[in-house]
Amino acid sequence: MAKKVRAAVIGAGAIGPVHMNGYVQTPSAELVAICDVDRGRAKAAAEKYGAAHVFTDYKELLASDLVDAVSVCTPNNTHMPISIAALKAGKHVLCEKPIAFDGNQARKMVEAARKARRILMTAQSMRFGAGAQLIKKLTDQGRFGELYFGKGMMLRRNGIPRGWFQDVKQSGGGPLIDIGVHVLDFLWWVMGMPKPVSAFGVTYDHLGKRGQGRGNWGVNYAPGKFSVEDLGAGMIRFADGKAISIEVSWAAHTGDNYFARILGTKGGAQLNPDLVLYETVGDTPVEVRPQTARVDGYVEEVRHFVRCIQRGEKPLVDASQSAVVMDMLRGIYKSAKTGRPVSL
Ligand SMILES: NC(=O)c1ccc[n+]([C@@H]2O[C@H](COP(=O)([O-])OP(=O)(O)OC[C@H]3O[C@@H](n4cnc5c(N)ncnc54)[C@H](O)[C@@H]3O)[C@@H](O)[C@H]2O)c1
Repeated sequence: MAKKVRAAVIGAGAIGPVHMNGYVQTPSAELVAICDVDRGRAKAAAEKYGAAHVFTDYKELLASDLVDAVSVCTPNNTHMPISIAALKAGKHVLCEKPIAFDGNQARKMVEAARKARRILMTAQSMRFGAGAQLIKKLTDQGRFGELYFGKGMMLRRNGIPRGWFQDVKQSGGGPLIDIGVHVLDFLWWVMGMPKPVSAFGVTYDHLGKRGQGRGNWGVNYAPGKFSVEDLGAGMIRFADGKAISIEVSWAAHTGDNYFARILGTKGGAQLNPDLVLYETVGDTPVEVRPQTARVDGYVEEVRHFVRCIQRGEKPLVDASQSAVVMDMLRGIYKSAKTGRPVSL
């Protein structure tokens, strides 16, 4: 049997414990250490998930020989420096989304992984759900014909996240980079990762900057420091004529609305709120509602990462793909700023 992968989680805030649970639920992994600048938080998580070691400085963790792999679950501006340091120290890295602020930062991380011969995977959890996996499998089997349009929406009425998320220097952007990255990555992956050629987009910050939209999410809310968009929308056009359109918000005068749809020449599919396949039988439009198994996409994501390390395989979400996704998101931001379509 392959040796267990010894793992640490860096960042014990909201998503860190989700990774910890993933390692604990993976028999071929062992959660060895937790690192957070907040010692109390790291210690509490280590006790809860049974990790033997606690660190407050990730450099000390990386200098130790305690682990083979780390999850990077810290604020967005720290993803690149922590991941590159981990790769240079010979650790495999599962880095939270967005992989970095932009495609160029992401490519530096990919280069570090190549040099270190280690895995750098992005935690695009949406790809690992049972519905997402089924849609991808059916797409690849040709069930929907040629996919030509993807549409994704993640609208929150009152969902501005806390603290650093609102500070562009730490987050790199608002809902486009925070949740737009999920739906754009999912649609682009299902559609076969076509080459993007242009982007058009808009961003607004009307509600966020006047202190609205905090809901249950926004503790430590500081309206004066709100320096990102609260709503963003964009369209990406691909070299083969396909397109993806996304609309995302943390705060807007609308009902909460999450969905992702793909449209093909023979059929289409919707991932959420319900998993639905759209087909035509004879002349009759038909809807199919698959009964997929209940799986925890977050646990599947960590298991996949561990399996790739043990087998020396390329991960499903290789970080080089995320570099392209970040190029697309930056294209939308640039277009929003200039008021013109931009070439990618
Ligand atoms: N995949 C998902 O569904 C999902 C969900 C939530 C967050 N995220 C991503 O996960 C990352 C973290 O988000 P969060 O909501 O958990 O944030 P958070 O603020 O709740 O937690 C971040 C933690 O990192 C710690 N930290 C900050 N700098 C550090 C450093 N240099 N070394 C060690 N620890 C450090 C903080 O003390 C904090 O405990 C973000 O990139 C976010 O986009 C992903």
